[in-house]
Amino acid sequence: MLKTNISEIEKEQNDLYNSFFEGSGEEANVSFDVLFAGKLYITIKIDDKTYEYEEPEPVGNALKQKSLRKRYCLRALYKALSAKTGKTLPWGSFTGIRPTALAREAIENNETNEFSVTEFLEREFLISHEKALLCSKILKNQHGIIKNDHLIDFYVNIPVCPTRCAYCSFISSEMKAVEKIMPEYLEALKKEIRLVKQFMFDKALIVRNVYIGGGTPTVLDEKSLDELLSELSFKVNEFTVECGRPDTITREKLEVLEKHGVNRICINPQTFSDATLKRIGRQHKKEDVFEAYSLALEKGFEVNMDMIVGLPGESGGAVKKTVDTLLDLYPSNITVHTLSLKRGSLMQDEKLSNLKNLNKILSQTHQRLMEAGYKPYYLYRQKHQLGGLENVGFARDNLMCQFNIDSMEECSSIMAVGAGAISKRVFSLENRIERQANPKFLKDYIERIDEMIEKKKQLFS
Ligand SMILES: C[S@@+](CC[C@H](N)C(=O)[O-])C[C@H]1O[C@@H](n2cnc3c(N)ncnc32)[C@H](O)[C@@H]1O
Ligand code: SF4
Repeated sequence: MLKTNISEIEKEQNDLYNSFFEGSGEEANVSFDVLFAGKLYITIKIDDKTYEYEEPEPVGNALKQKSLRKRYCLRALYKALSAKTGKTLPWGSFTGIRPTALAREAIENNETNEFSVTEFLEREFLISHEKALLCSKILKNQHGIIKNDHLIDFYVNIPVCPTRCAYCSFISSEMKAVEKIMPEYLEALKKEIRLVKQFMFDKALIVRNVYIGGGTPTVLDEKSLDELLSELSFKVNEFTVECGRPDTITREKLEVLEKHGVNRICINPQTFSDATLKRIGRQHKKEDVFEAYSLALEKGFEVNMDMIVGLPGESGGAVKKTVDTLLDLYPSNITVHTLSLKRGSLMQDEKLSNLKNLNKILSQTHQRLMEAGYKPYYLYRQKHQLGGLENVGFARDNLMCQFNIDSMEECSSIMAVGAGAISKRVFSLENRIERQANPKFLKDYIERIDEMIEKKKQLFS
């Protein structure tokens, strides 16, 4: 339990406390007191021990001072928890989800530069050398970031799947549960696309990349896909469809995607062990991935593939085999996720893989991909990720998925339509982001479609 006298960062302090104690069966009474007198004088009591720290005076404008105060307080708390437990965390005192965005901002604000950003992250946030180095590599590899508020990305959400995978915490319905309202959903979605498109035209907002995600968009039949894609006639560099589940991919559906200018698709194995696929309720086999992949190559799509480290029952050996197979297939993009177990997934009580080795297995996976010519180019963290680790996207031959960079780094506005979609408007000069979320469930979305279109117009006006 944690008691604090600086309530503005209570949530982050609790996150840090949980990162040290969650799942260990241990707990401690922590009290945190800070005195502002030029410098910060911080006293932390953990059970019967007292730790005292002196941190520098936060300087700059009010916003900057607030951010530095938070940074210094969390850093002191991290030092005390680390001293008490003897543990260190891969991401140190950083509790956020976008460390590379933080690093880029620090470079833009002249707090550091691209040559010394590794040391900056280690010093300011006590991030491990390995993770800080990974961030700095990603910053060097990322390209195509354009700060122009008239260029935006367009996202369409299809939160429906053939069946539910046991580990998944995304809000997505099984097709059989929503089959009856699907025609109505697609009508509402097409209406939203049409009206928003007209509005974007009036406001001279130019779409750079399109991404249809979910869920599993290819759960739709060919006719529905054809009708939906007919509404998305943008002239773009990158048009991605997250097919995801290989068991939803057919030659006919890929022909529909091809006809409408889609040039990148995701086919996600997660693992190449059929035993694990069965265990996690993912209703396909590794052979389905091979079949879908060869169809995709025949049609000339760039292919993104996802894998997950930390799946139940998987040791380093199983992960190595998955990486071997991925390297044999050699897709344009490989994203390596670390399992996150959130409320809402069916797998809460599963016996998990050995956590001790997880960071080592993840690092070996990254290393092997880099040795094979893949470059890391985006990174994000999620709540409840095993070992407090992260997800990293890799691409070979500079075939990076621009939408992944834009959405994870929050460097471009996104007009997002469909149930559960979150639109973001980035005000790049003011360094500010505003959001608008559509209702998560199909029925609510259908009922409130006109209101959602109006809200989107307000957001971008
Ligand atoms: C939006 S999800 C769904 C994509 C698609 N429906 C599929 O399953 O292939 C994108 C990716 O997030 C990852 N993911 C989903 N749930 C996860 C979890 N609980 N922990 C870690 N990664 C997860 C998976 O690798 C998945 O491919
Ligand atoms: S992992 Fe993908 S296919 Fe499985 S339930 Fe989640 S969104 Fe659907």
